[in-house]
This record gives sequence, C-alpha cells and structure tokens, in this order.
Amino acid sequence: MAVPPKQLCWGPALNAREVTPISTKTDLSQFACQVCIDPDCGQQYAVDEVRVACATCGGLLDVRYDWDRVPVPASLRDFEARWSNRRNPLDFSGVWRFRELLPFAPPEAVVTIGEGQTILQTCDTVGRYVGMRPGQLFLQYEGLNPSGSFKDNGMTAAATHARMVGAKVAACASTGNTSASLAIFASTTGLLRVVVFVGSGKIAFGKLAQALDYGALTLQIQADFDDALARVREVCERLNIYLCNSVNPLRLEGQKTIMYRVLESLAWEPPDWIVVPGGNLGNSSAFGKAFYELEQLGLIDRIPRLAVINAEGSNTLYRLYEQQKVHWNDGRTDSSAIDEFYTQMDAEGRRAATLATAIQINRPVNLVKCLRALQVCNGVVREVSDQEILDGKAQVGAGGFGCEPASGAAVAGAKRLREEGVIAPSDRVVCIVTGHGLKDPNATVAYHADAGAGDSGRFANRPIVVENDLERIIAMLRKFA
Ligand code: F0G
Repeated sequence: MAVPPKQLCWGPALNAREVTPISTKTDLSQFACQVCIDPDCGQQYAVDEVRVACATCGGLLDVRYDWDRVPVPASLRDFEARWSNRRNPLDFSGVWRFRELLPFAPPEAVVTIGEGQTILQTCDTVGRYVGMRPGQLFLQYEGLNPSGSFKDNGMTAAATHARMVGAKVAACASTGNTSASLAIFASTTGLLRVVVFVGSGKIAFGKLAQALDYGALTLQIQADFDDALARVREVCERLNIYLCNSVNPLRLEGQKTIMYRVLESLAWEPPDWIVVPGGNLGNSSAFGKAFYELEQLGLIDRIPRLAVINAEGSNTLYRLYEQQKVHWNDGRTDSSAIDEFYTQMDAEGRRAATLATAIQINRPVNLVKCLRALQVCNGVVREVSDQEILDGKAQVGAGGFGCEPASGAAVAGAKRLREEGVIAPSDRVVCIVTGHGLKDPNATVAYHADAGAGDSGRFANRPIVVENDLERIIAMLRKFA
C-alpha cells in the first residue's frame, strides 16, 4: 500500500534514486538504505554497506525503506495466509513471514533457523501479582526461540545481512544471549566463523555453555559488557569482522517482528502497554520503529505505550529519561547532558551491577534510538530492585514457562506502574519474556533453595531434604497429601 512516509521524527525522507541496488534478482531490497538517525545529518548509505555508525557524525543508523515501492499488504491480516505454508522456511519463520515489513534482503540471502516460533499467553497468575483484571496480562515468551532468547529474531536478520555482504567472520560482545544466538546461527548454518567477547565472570552459565557448545571462539575479557563492547567494535573495525551487536541496524529490523507477532496473537488489535526490560536498548528501539512504521503504513490506528524497565544497578536510561528529562525531542536530544552523565559516571567509577546479568549495562549503545521509541510510544521508564526482579521471575515460573532474571524485570516494572496508577487494571498489558528460565539456573536455585531472611525468596519453593528411607519419605508426603 502506497502511503508516503511522514517524517515526524525520523529524519529526511528517503530518496530512492540514491540507493544502490544490491541484487538484480530481487525487487524488495532495492528499496532499502541505511540512514543516520540524526535529522541534522541524515547521511544515507547503501543497504549492503557494512556500517555500525554514521561516517559523517558518528550517529546511529536506521534501515529506511521507500514504502511507495514495497508491496506491503493492505492489511496485517493478509500475513495470515502464510500460516498454511509452513514448508517454505521463509513462511515458517516468525521473522520472515513478515518480510515485506523488513524488506532489505533478497529471499535467496535469508538465513533462517526457524526462529520466532514464540507464543503470547494470558497469564492470570502474573496478572494477579501485577494487579490486573483477569485476562489482561499477557506474556510474550521469546525464550522459546532456538537459542532460548529474543536475540534470534535479530540474529537471523544480521546473519542474512552478513551473507549479503559476503562476510565470513562475525563477532559480538555479550552478556550471554547475543553470543549464544550468534553461535547457534553459525553452528547450524555453517556460513560464518564466530568470535564472541564475554565479560569474565559476568555471564550466566547456561549462556556460556551455549557459546562453547556451539563452537564459537569465546574470549573471556577481564572487563564488563560496556568495555567488552567498546573493544569488539575496535577489533571488528581493525580486522574487518562483521559486528552483530544491536548497534548493527539490520539486526534491529528482525527484532521488530516480536511486535508483529504480539499483534498477530491479539488478532491485530494493539494492546495498551508493552513492557520490556532495558539493557543495551535494542529491543525497545526496534519496537518503537515497528509501531511507527505500521502506523505510517496505515496498518494500525493506535500505538501501544512502551515501558522500559531498568535494573536499579544499571539504570542509565531511567536516570536520563525520567530524572533528567533527556528526551528525543524530535531528534534534538540534549547530547551534552548525556556526555556529562557519562563523564560523571566515570568520575565516580560507577559500574553496572545487578543480578540480572543480561541487562548489566551502563552505556546502552541504542540510548538515543530508545529515546526516539519512547517519544513515538508515549513511553515511560522505571527502575526495579534485584529483589523485585527475582520475585517477578518467580511469578513467571509459578504461572507459566519461566524466565531468566532480566525478564522478571518486565513483570516487576508492570507491577510498579500498576501501583502508581500509570497502568489501569483494565489495560491490556504485554510483558516481553526475553529469555528462557534455563539460561541462569544458578539464580533460580539460589532464590528457591538458599532464600535467606527478610524479603528474599518471597515465593521460594524450597527443596526438602529427606533421608533415603521409605517410611520417612511416605510420612513426609502425607503432610502434603
Ligand atoms: N533480556 C535478556 C534476556 C537479554 O539478554 C537482554 C540483552 C535484554 C533483556 C536487554 O535487551 O539490550 O535490547 O535492551 N542482552 C544482550 C546480550 C545485551 O548481550 O545478550 P536490550
């Protein structure tokens, strides 16, 4: 459908004539380019260039499409036709079945491992905990992806782009899930050799186990994620290695589809709230872009509100957005306030610290993009304590498929917003369950088995030690029967 993109806050319109076609075999990818998100810059790059920052101003890049020339379906319902065509890997994928909404790749370049077979479920156990009316709280289980986290949505897009540009080696820094995802794409497809940088002692064992098992060259850097990411960027530039962190704009295109699947599960009716944990802020940025584009294309008539939830120990976004009121401001973000914030953070020697290691990040690379998403989605940011995170996680476990700590932050944040009256009990709220419960079994067992005094392990389900004696076991079980 041909709706000219209004450029409310996304920089200058794409001039399709300036885009270099990347393949003569396809039509769709000719209509994509990369654009600097700073409206004062707006520098464009061909979609098959490998870039993670604007060469002119250093800003973040977006993928932009000439929607006038992309055959986008007239209605989101039209995508349902693909459900009956699961033998086609592109239609089976929960990412690529929406390919007209991320049309940067020729179909023959797509690298898919069956990602995105995830589900949205009503969860009244968590709903009650949060304070919602029955049927109003939904969990989007992204832990059901092949590598156990939402990252596969983005990695299929990054791997596809890597293939388009002929990359042979790819790398990322990671708190664990990005590395697991990149490693699984490499091991299943054999298309890439992979090196992952992880902070020594900063990664949950389930995730480290995956990188090792899938055969990734794994560098444990004596640093935290923020430093490891800065380092891998230098290494990739020096050695011409393809970078798969969320600063790669192609990766975020894949993560938009999490929102398409949420809409799909809700019969294409937007919910009132999307609540997501915030780390490097790739997901929240992608969600904002997804909804902005859908609205511009006339495919939705209302954008849900976005709540991004930081851990208290790594709360850069919360401090800047809620306390210092640093906003996107139609592309005129107060960058000196951000610079000062980081200078102060370094002067105080403040490092990210939370039990939710996935979001233990103090310098989120997508900060400015996330501010844009918060403007588009009339968003809010909250910080929650590790205790609230673990209690939220325990509720997801008690009421459903379980999750890793970072995902518990979404539930804790929804509860906080409900208590504040920002979320109403009758709202429809979707919490994004970003990672599988088996990613970080140590955190789970510590919560249940080692629960100490006070508030810790509020919902602990303690294992009971019993002698290997039939009568004692039976006596014990009678107490429960
Ligand atoms: N939840 C989980 C389970 C994650 O692994 C991450 C990020 C986030 C939430 C935060 O998402 O960065 O898009 O704001 N993990 C990255 C990694 C940083 O390296 O695996 P974000």
